[in-house]
Amino acid sequence: MKSEVIVVGAGGHAKVCIELLRAQGDSVAYCVGNPDSPDTCLGVPVLKNDEHLAALRNDGYEKAFIAIGSNSVRNKLAAKATQLGFGLVNAISPAAVVSPSANLGRGIAVMAGAVINAEAKISDLCIVNTGATIDHDCVIGEAVHIAPQCALAGNVHVGKLSFIGVGSKIIPEVHIGESVMVGAGSVVISNIGSATTVVGVPAKVLHKI
Ligand SMILES: CC(C)(COP(=O)(O)OP(=O)(O)OC[C@H]1O[C@@H](n2cnc3c(N)ncnc32)[C@H](O)[C@@H]1OP(=O)(O)O)[C@@H](O)C(=O)NCCC(=O)NCCS
Repeated sequence: MKSEVIVVGAGGHAKVCIELLRAQGDSVAYCVGNPDSPDTCLGVPVLKNDEHLAALRNDGYEKAFIAIGSNSVRNKLAAKATQLGFGLVNAISPAAVVSPSANLGRGIAVMAGAVINAEAKISDLCIVNTGATIDHDCVIGEAVHIAPQCALAGNVHVGKLSFIGVGSKIIPEVHIGESVMVGAGSVVISNIGSATTVVGVPAKVLHKI
């Protein structure tokens, strides 16, 4: 069995994740991209089709990281990788602060400057991007992306596959549904139902998805 990690994705987000993996002592053997991907990503050779995943698994690789920004695509490719028998690793910056009482799933990216406070729960496949803060007792569902510089106050709940745009703020106790899009720079002060896009200060519904 091979201990190197296979990174699925070969774009800008993958670059950040490769550096996170390297910083925590992992080495990355291959990226798996698409026909339009570059030949290498931060020096890692790129295989240009998802079908390569099965061959890599047969070749003895058993760890994967899904470095795709789109929540739904990340979720789908993670299902494919786990079905093939890959284990999903986390990629957590040494410059992030993660409470020892926080509960982290697998396949998670936590970028530099992020803070995850006491008893927060971060589910599988989440991205906690650069400088985002998630305060005590928050519950973040599967495959959520918290973009750079967001601030979630205590006890905020975010449903699976939701996206919280760059620089957004959410006041304590707010519940956000599944597949919600919060526009960049929004301030969310009340609960938001599923499959809704909200924007502004305070955030108001832009459209239902
Ligand atoms: C919210 C968002 C998804 C809307 O995208 P969209 O559905 O394509 O909407 P449009 O760009 O057509 O804008 C529709 C209206 O909403 C307004 N709007 C869009 N985003 C807004 C925002 N973040 N805050 C306030 N108003 C916003 C537009 O000005 C426009 O208003 P108008 O109809 O009066 O002209 C997008 O603008 C956004 O904020 N994305 C977040 C990106 C991000 O944070 N990426 C981080 C990557 S790590």
